[in-house]
Amino acid sequence: MAKYLADPKIGIVGIGSDAPEELLTNADLERIVDTSDQWIVERTGIRTRRIANSKTTTSMLASRAALRALEDAGVDPGDVDLIVVGTATPDMLFPSTGCLVQRDIGATRAAAFDLAAACTGFIYGLNVAAGMIRNGTHDTALVIGAETLTKITDFEDRSTCVLFGDGAGAAVLRRVENGSGIVSTRIKSDGTLGEMLMMPGGGSLHPPSHATVDARLHYIKMSGNNVFKSAVKSMADIVQTGLDDAGLTAADVDLFVPHQANARIIEATAKKLAFPTEKVFMNVDRYGNTSAASIPIAIDEARQTGRLERGDMVAAVAFGAGFTWGSVIFEY
Ligand code: UT7
Repeated sequence: MAKYLADPKIGIVGIGSDAPEELLTNADLERIVDTSDQWIVERTGIRTRRIANSKTTTSMLASRAALRALEDAGVDPGDVDLIVVGTATPDMLFPSTGCLVQRDIGATRAAAFDLAAACTGFIYGLNVAAGMIRNGTHDTALVIGAETLTKITDFEDRSTCVLFGDGAGAAVLRRVENGSGIVSTRIKSDGTLGEMLMMPGGGSLHPPSHATVDARLHYIKMSGNNVFKSAVKSMADIVQTGLDDAGLTAADVDLFVPHQANARIIEATAKKLAFPTEKVFMNVDRYGNTSAASIPIAIDEARQTGRLERGDMVAAVAFGAGFTWGSVIFEY
């Protein structure tokens, strides 16, 4: 294990998730754009996604996921002293979604903020929160990945609208005595490739106006094929770096939890790293790409279905807009 992570040991002591009940199926999308169930399944592996209705916000999904994670950990909201929310779809620009979650779950002692790393937001959040606990300034952190991406999805653009879904996942981080906890966490970015995946409208570059709405600037724009190629290489590289940090090999990993963007990206990344299919967790077929929420939703589902047990070694990895990417290797 990398020396700087060995003491104190910091682990995930609770996990929870939430997703809207409404479904958006490939058959629904066939009625909206020129696409087919066959194309979507073959190119992405996605069959259905959860979609937030007009009344459901990112902070609502995040708060429900957070309360479930706290219950799983047996921790009272009043004991949380840090909330980090990875999201690209906050309720509003400010106050932060973290502060809205703090209010809604009654985590009165916490410092709360949002972190903008798009699909890598949960991994970045784990890295930042673990660092703050290690510094000794905080004890009990809630790290949340939460999105309502379908609210910034252009349902006239068939190359993106078939990909995304909504949801949230949360983890409680604390010092642990048993097991090794997080044994490696690595994050990277390359801002020169930012234009490959962006939502250009609504900020200081293109403040909201009738013109920006008419130009559809408040929707996701993506050069999918370029993102695909970078994602596979970057995710494989940063998992390998994480394994090297920890003195582990792929054979030591019990469960590989990659960002759920596309079944082909997951399969290609797992193949590069020599993870056999049975160690690779996949639920992209039922959730689509939920961005920062995808990894904690996947870990929670793995736990609930018995794919993940205490003591298992997990390698989680994500890639997203920025570009940003990161890995976390931990004993659950
Ligand atoms: O979370 C991190 C960020 N996002 C991702 O990781 C997504 C990364 N990218 C991808 O998953 C894939 O690139 C896509 C699924 C988005 C696209 O798959 P692809 O194999 O890269 O296809 P492509 O973009 O090269 O498009 C192939 C063809 C095009 O037609 P032509 O030009 O060959 O005639 C597209 O117009 O497929 C067409 N196409 C569609 N056809 C039917 C694109 N979207 C659709 C669609 N239905 N929904």
